[in-house]
Amino acid sequence: MSKKLLILPGDGIGPEVMAVVRRVIDWMDKRRGVSFDVEEGLVGGASIDAHGVPVTDEVVEKALAADAVLLGAVGGPKWDNLDFARKPERGLLRLRKDLELFANLRPAMCFDALVDASTLKPELVRGLDIMIVRELTGGVYFGEPRGIEDLGNGIRRGINTQVYTTPEIIRVARVAFELAGKRGGRLTSVEKANVMESGVLWREEVSKLGAEEYPDIALDHMYADNCAMQLVRAPKQFDVIVTDNLFGDILSDAAAMLTGSLGMLPSASLGAEENGRRRALYEPVHGSAPDIAGQDKANPMATLLSFSMALRYSFDLGGEADLIEGAVEDVLAAGLRTADIQEPGKPAVTTTAMADALIAALDKRTA
Ligand code: IPM
Ligand code: MG
Repeated sequence: MSKKLLILPGDGIGPEVMAVVRRVIDWMDKRRGVSFDVEEGLVGGASIDAHGVPVTDEVVEKALAADAVLLGAVGGPKWDNLDFARKPERGLLRLRKDLELFANLRPAMCFDALVDASTLKPELVRGLDIMIVRELTGGVYFGEPRGIEDLGNGIRRGINTQVYTTPEIIRVARVAFELAGKRGGRLTSVEKANVMESGVLWREEVSKLGAEEYPDIALDHMYADNCAMQLVRAPKQFDVIVTDNLFGDILSDAAAMLTGSLGMLPSASLGAEENGRRRALYEPVHGSAPDIAGQDKANPMATLLSFSMALRYSFDLGGEADLIEGAVEDVLAAGLRTADIQEPGKPAVTTTAMADALIAALDKRTA
């Protein structure tokens, strides 16, 4: 059976880190007999430059037809002044929306070798393994009405709408309950039910679903502001967190930084399961890092680990995913570090050197 993978490198460091994944894909083809039907396309600023839009209909069609999409990063100063509808980020948002990728899985785990790269005390983060499930196609990101109105007399009003329906809450909560069942059995649902009706509804629906279908999962509820505080106070109290689009955006950045580097963290965005297949897009949590783009400095690990999530969730290749994750740990344990996770007094290596070491580690593990 062919495995259709659409690769969208995007902007900034996107193409550099994706080149490392391409090397691993070639390695898998040659050494493991696992091959993919790979296509590449443009997204973000790269697509704006070539076609005037952040993503073309053709690329969206290809994404809909693929078994999985792997995306690098979008955006950069070159496109900052475009109007809102044409910004690089809209390409990503359109893909999420058109593919109906409502569940965004953002693991925050601390690699042993990187405990000291965290800004928190080592004992707070050693062994950290949190999964944030962020709702990705609803809430204030897409709610109507939205816009900027002119009220006259030089006064304007900006409007966005936070809105959730019960099916939107239930489907993402279900993904989170299922994940909790496969992990530590604990789920924290996060909203602001103290000030928002959408939060009250969120809490009610998650509670009901938990009581009816997941009685074995230990469910608790937390306000988003408290959750932000708890994440930096005692992050290991969490197993799985489920929350809305905006809170998830913010809390997942905070959780990511606990681990020492955004450059290490992958994510998966999943749609509904239909005929045994789930639409899925995988991308690193970090952005396009224009300040270091083109300098062979970027950390390729987050994108490589995103590919490994694709192997696990979309292609049922858990063994190959283990292999890649093992190679990542080998490289870190050997002390290789790109600048973002550099240790004081030790040199930083290039993206290329990191990739060479990864391939060598893969060779060694399969020798
Ligand atoms: C993220 C990013 C995006 C978001 C931007 C690039 C639109 O911050 O994936 O977390 O806000 O969702
Ligand atoms: Mg974000």
